[in-house]
Amino acid sequence: MKLMVIGSGGREHALVWKLAQSPRARQIWCAPGNAGIALEDNPMGVPVACVPILADDLTQLLAFAVENEPDLVIVGPDNPLSLGIVDLFEAHKIRIWGPNQKAALFESSKVFSQAFMERHRVPTARAGTFDNPQLASVFAAELQGRCAVKADGLALGKGVLICHNPTEAEAAINEILIRQAFGAAGAKIVIQELLEGPEISLHALCDGKTAKLFPTAQDHKRALEGDQGLNTGGMGTYSPTPFLNEAELQKMGDQILDPWLQGCAQEGIDFKGILYPGVMLTAAGPKVLEFNARFGDPETQVYLMRLENDLIDLLEASVDGKLGQSELRWSPQAAVCVVMASGGYPNSYAKGQPITGLDQAAALPNVKVFHAGTTVKNGTLVTNGGRVLGVTALGATLAEAQATAYRAVDLIHFKGAHVRRDIAAKALVC
Ligand code: AMP
Ligand code: GLY
Repeated sequence: MKLMVIGSGGREHALVWKLAQSPRARQIWCAPGNAGIALEDNPMGVPVACVPILADDLTQLLAFAVENEPDLVIVGPDNPLSLGIVDLFEAHKIRIWGPNQKAALFESSKVFSQAFMERHRVPTARAGTFDNPQLASVFAAELQGRCAVKADGLALGKGVLICHNPTEAEAAINEILIRQAFGAAGAKIVIQELLEGPEISLHALCDGKTAKLFPTAQDHKRALEGDQGLNTGGMGTYSPTPFLNEAELQKMGDQILDPWLQGCAQEGIDFKGILYPGVMLTAAGPKVLEFNARFGDPETQVYLMRLENDLIDLLEASVDGKLGQSELRWSPQAAVCVVMASGGYPNSYAKGQPITGLDQAAALPNVKVFHAGTTVKNGTLVTNGGRVLGVTALGATLAEAQATAYRAVDLIHFKGAHVRRDIAAKALVC
């Protein structure tokens, strides 16, 4: 099969790496890809080809696909999905994996998602939706200012402001609705009550009728150890988490996915792709904070290290509505992914720093280094983004996977590298 993957981060490197292991992968293109993706090859030794087209340049992506006729296109990031890449490619009879524009609303509109959850009784936070700042303030005051104020649309992961008192809530409402810090994405806001408890990532592969739940994973969104500092795209993940046993996970999956699937059926939403709910395990039970409509990054890195199925088979079953016949198989091993970021991230940071030690790290057993923000300049591998690498390891236990991941991290060097040293630590004291 000829495959075309869209995106350039650690998630897409993990997807390409896993797809390239399939004996069915004859040719893989990745647009635009990164330096690590360009090093992968398929079982016949055919290298993955990176194509310099950005993930949101739908016109050029379509032109490439029309010319090269991939048998399946796989979309990584949220942006092209919310722009309607699936609808566009399907209109040109190109087979593509991911939710269409209507289904992608679960991520691209928090107002839509919140209302859907309330309509269909998916467990979520108490919430209100507003475009009027005065009414928003009245609701925030009812919550004593303890709330999450969320811009409706996509805001590069920055559209959620966590508030602990009325002053912070006023400032957040002002920032989004009046100062319009997120532009049109913040024309409406959702205000949720502030929930407490461990936060986990759920993923379910969906085919429009069926949703197959993955094991649990946990991300570390803050930049600094002890969950301090600014929110980032994710500084590291591990899977599985110790907060739920298998039976509890199944129960939680049913509580969330059954009403969600029924709601989709009733509203004519044909969701093919990954549904990724962010879930808080509160004292009153699990509550969905938000839905994403794609693989998490860096959740994908730990999931795909553990997945035993051929990923092409699963994605085809998802596109074809045949997931009911598939069984997901997971390695019993644990996986840990530690992100190496550029110093300063998520604020401004330097690019172009040479990276060394990757070969030594890759030589360790059970280690895979996924590239996120890397490129090659004058023959040298250099940093090219905020999140640079996702150093991922498998182990018989979480502690072993964690130790191996950090052993690999310690072999890799670039100027200003920033690493959280406590990825998976919460699980080990549990
Ligand atoms: P989101 O983009 O909705 O995932 O929000 C970003 C982060 O804000 C989440 O990962 C949570 O850590 C936090 N968050 C979002 N909603 C709430 C809430 N209702 N209560 C507490 N924390 C929240
Ligand atoms: N792991 C965070 C995200 O993918 O949004």
